[in-house]
Amino acid sequence: MDHTAPSAPSAPSAPDSLSAIDPLAAHLTDYALSYLHSAALRTAARLGVADHLADGPRGADELAALTGASEGHLRRILRLLATRDVFHEDDKGAFHLTPLAERLRSDTPSSLREAVLLATDESFVRPATRLEDAVRTGRSVFDEIYGAPFFEYLSREPGAGEAFDRGMANVSAGEDDAVAAAYSFPAKGTVVDVGGGRGGLLGRTLARNPGLTGVLYDRDAVLRGHSLDVPELTGRWEVRPGDFFTSVPAGADVYLLKRILHDWSDEECVRILRACRAGMSADSRLLAVDCVIPQDNTPHPGKVLDVLMMTALNGRERGEEDFRRLFTEAGLRLVRVVPTGSAVSIVEAAPVAPVA
Ligand SMILES: C[S@@+](CC[C@H](N)C(=O)[O-])C[C@H]1O[C@@H](n2cnc3c(N)ncnc32)[C@H](O)[C@@H]1O
Repeated sequence: MDHTAPSAPSAPSAPDSLSAIDPLAAHLTDYALSYLHSAALRTAARLGVADHLADGPRGADELAALTGASEGHLRRILRLLATRDVFHEDDKGAFHLTPLAERLRSDTPSSLREAVLLATDESFVRPATRLEDAVRTGRSVFDEIYGAPFFEYLSREPGAGEAFDRGMANVSAGEDDAVAAAYSFPAKGTVVDVGGGRGGLLGRTLARNPGLTGVLYDRDAVLRGHSLDVPELTGRWEVRPGDFFTSVPAGADVYLLKRILHDWSDEECVRILRACRAGMSADSRLLAVDCVIPQDNTPHPGKVLDVLMMTALNGRERGEEDFRRLFTEAGLRLVRVVPTGSAVSIVEAAPVAPVA
């Protein structure tokens, strides 16, 4: 039975005095306070409110009892979220799932709960409160706050590392099949997923291309949570721990680097790409799968991630010319950019023949 409220009606808002008098002030104030929407969303996700509405609407009193929350406070954050169509409150005071709230459930194939928890995680939010410092110095403040660079911190704090891996796998689940479908992989051969996380993209690539075998290459702790052990892929994959700044498994036909280069500075990217180049044969291809952002002010989901990359890491989202430049420095040439229908594109590179 579908308990989702019919597209949650954005109730005709009672004219609020500020937007009537000064719409720009209303817009700017709402924009400035948007972190509270984000905090409310995180809280609802953490409390599992959407799971408790899966069987039908419930009042705030019942939800508070089920989640161990304060009824008054819970009602107030759900009321705020309802203004953005996450949950809907009916005239009897019962809260319903909406299509957006449905995605906060933890137990459905289209769940985005882990992705929401990652996006709102303290390890992203705290550095963002120091954005001004990052902008003044051109450096992330992550190390200053947490005493280590981002991925070292994740290695040191297993709980944070696992939350990141779960969140990343959840973010990627929405794009992995689109990426695997958008590229014509060779009929036979080996694919190495460099920094492949829990293996979502490698799994979809192998499932769509039965003649391929795959290597999932990442940090040891990440590989322990991989998702490749499914009957469909039996005998066609292996996991290999390692450091992509040092080397990658050699001799593969395709090297995937999805949402890798955006984590790193240009100099670090060139080191990663050179390590890949060293393992490639003349016919190998490298596929950098990342946002390719327009350089003008056209909206693109990568532009907000670009700010995350400057606060939590020293990375950036890049445009086509940026990728071309990085590839050239690493002995590669940009072949083409393939859109995938998701936020990321495939930037294909081939080795430049060494000068004889
Ligand atoms: C942003 S995540 C992307 C994961 C995956 N490719 C995806 O799109 O979901 C970056 C990945 O790089 C891995 N990584 C970071 N530093 C690494 C290193 N030095 N060597 C190998 N993998 C590394 C992380 O463990 C993480 O899985």
